[in-house]
Amino acid sequence: MRLLTRCAFAAAMLFKLLAAQQPTPAPAPTEPPKELSEKEKDDLDAGIPITNELVRKTCSPCHKADDKQRLSRISWRRTTPEGWEQTIKRMISLNGVKMEPAEAREILKYLADNLGLAPEEARPAAFEVEKQMIDYKFPDKDTESTCSKCHSMGRVISQRRTKSEWELLVAMHRGYYPLSDFQAFRRVGPPQTEPGPDGRPPDNRHPMDKAIPYLTEKYPLKTPEWSEWAPNMRAPKLVGRWAFYGYQTGKGSLYGVTTIKATDKEDEFTTETRYVRAKTADVVTRQGKAVVYTGFQWRGRSFAASNDKAGMREVMFVERNQRELSGRWFTGAYEEIGIDVTLRRIGNDPIVLGLDNIALQAGMTREVQIHGTNFPADISSSAIDFGPGVTVKRVVSASPDLVKVEVEVAKTAGIGPRDVGVAGMYREGAAVVYDKIDAIKVRPQSGMARVGGIQFPKEYQQFEAIAYNNGADGKPDTKDDLNLGPIDVSWSIEEYTATFDDDDKQWVGTLDDNGLFTPNVDGPNPKRKNHADNYGDVWVIATYKLPDGRTLRARGHLLVTVPLYILFDQPEVAP
Ligand code: HEC
Ligand code: HEC
Repeated sequence: MRLLTRCAFAAAMLFKLLAAQQPTPAPAPTEPPKELSEKEKDDLDAGIPITNELVRKTCSPCHKADDKQRLSRISWRRTTPEGWEQTIKRMISLNGVKMEPAEAREILKYLADNLGLAPEEARPAAFEVEKQMIDYKFPDKDTESTCSKCHSMGRVISQRRTKSEWELLVAMHRGYYPLSDFQAFRRVGPPQTEPGPDGRPPDNRHPMDKAIPYLTEKYPLKTPEWSEWAPNMRAPKLVGRWAFYGYQTGKGSLYGVTTIKATDKEDEFTTETRYVRAKTADVVTRQGKAVVYTGFQWRGRSFAASNDKAGMREVMFVERNQRELSGRWFTGAYEEIGIDVTLRRIGNDPIVLGLDNIALQAGMTREVQIHGTNFPADISSSAIDFGPGVTVKRVVSASPDLVKVEVEVAKTAGIGPRDVGVAGMYREGAAVVYDKIDAIKVRPQSGMARVGGIQFPKEYQQFEAIAYNNGADGKPDTKDDLNLGPIDVSWSIEEYTATFDDDDKQWVGTLDDNGLFTPNVDGPNPKRKNHADNYGDVWVIATYKLPDGRTLRARGHLLVTVPLYILFDQPEVAP
């Protein structure tokens, strides 16, 4: 869905945008215009040649080529695969460019590889491509309030451009979406005349005129990071077996193995992942495909079974040492359901992935399941090490990827995180010794869901409760608090009194025994006062009964809002 139908003004503006192009040499291009600083000239010179025939053929009818094989606009901008995809989709939807899907994929790959971001540049914008719900703080308030009114700052910080490209980007917004002037780019109201608190005259520039210089300075086309990365970039050698560590809110830890196989293209792979949900021992097997862009950006999709239509999208960073990948795998209409994933290369040594339940209570004996790979078949209890005060009484069973042991935790065992070793290989902080549960907390502290199910899809919100011990200082909410992992609690919803007498609790939706919130349907509700939609905000309450009969309570805030009626883009950089 696109916001705006084209109008004559937009068309005229576009004509100007292409006409006022990047350094297409003027008849006597001896001297660049005076107002360019050294840095800006340098940036212009850094325009990147485009040598791929298909890109040149598809884009050059409108984007003029110069004598250095550069194409106007395109050569002076770098971004992520998602950033390029968005532009290509926009060229198709708004500027009438035609191409076949296979051509679009080749063009995208070429641009993301050759006009991409270095790992250090892409990392701060990872939340954008991983679709993480985070509380992002941008250092410059003026720019943030100008550019995050309609979309996330992630879209902005994953761009590198010359000054004129930043200017033309703002011009594109104003041309296609004229409302943006009133919504964000231009100052409203009369100019300020009073001097500021520091006695200096007021800054009456329009917000966009403050944002452009800031972005030009902080996100230039030419950077040391890219100059270093581009010549060093290569297709990573990922074929082999990888230890899979996952964490999914509401499901807990997932452990397993991902096998990456080669295809006939050096940066495309097929995958098979098998993981166990540590808490319940449920096994999931996923088959997938992936492409690696710019030497480090893994973009894949995997499916759990033939009836798994949507599958999970995999977005990961490949570390420079090629021994680790990490990121998020996600699904859902709003990409809200996801697993935080780390893959580490498996060699011949055993690897401890983690325990079924990390919390070991002092004075107790219990069975502990240690998940891993390459465990020796004949493992003895002496080869398993939990540190002082925790005795491995016996090995209950052993297989290459799961050892079950009985451990006795001494009453006097010191509390705190414990490294756990199997056959000489350790996982740091794989367990935690504690004496009692002092508190529980709800995660996330503030969640969001969207009503749906009739016209629009539902956005779900999963909550979980984490147990805490106050740590050595005995005080809550200090640095030494011990996270004891997720625990089973009972869940309920309470009214959050923002609006008097609106009974949100009754209408927003339901929370199941596992902390999963399912919103109510979209659209006006005739049973509700004023026929309002089923939106609202509520407290989500977790209650935990201690063995001594006391109860611990914690709460999180949940905002249930309306569907996202307009999706400006639907990124889909998949193989
Ligand atoms: C039919 C003409 C046409 C073709 C073909 C075309 N574009 Fe464009 N492109 C435009 C126009 C018009 C603009 C300026 C307005 C805008 O940004 O939409 C533009 C702007 C751009 C920009 C700057 C957008 C920004 O983010 O500031 C990029 C990058 C771009 N095009 C890439 C491409 C690529 C890559 C191709 C080839 C796959 C391509 N274009 C093919 C018409 C075209
Ligand atoms: C009034 C709402 C609005 C504001 C304010 C806004 N944007 Fe946008 N932006 C959009 C829309 C709409 C699109 C086009 C999305 C599409 O077609 O997929 C877009 C697209 C973009 C793109 C992708 C362009 C491409 O290559 O296709 C970038 C980058 C961007 N905006 C940066 C910015 C920056 C920087 C600012 C602040 C100076 C800003 N936006 C402020 C609405 C806005």
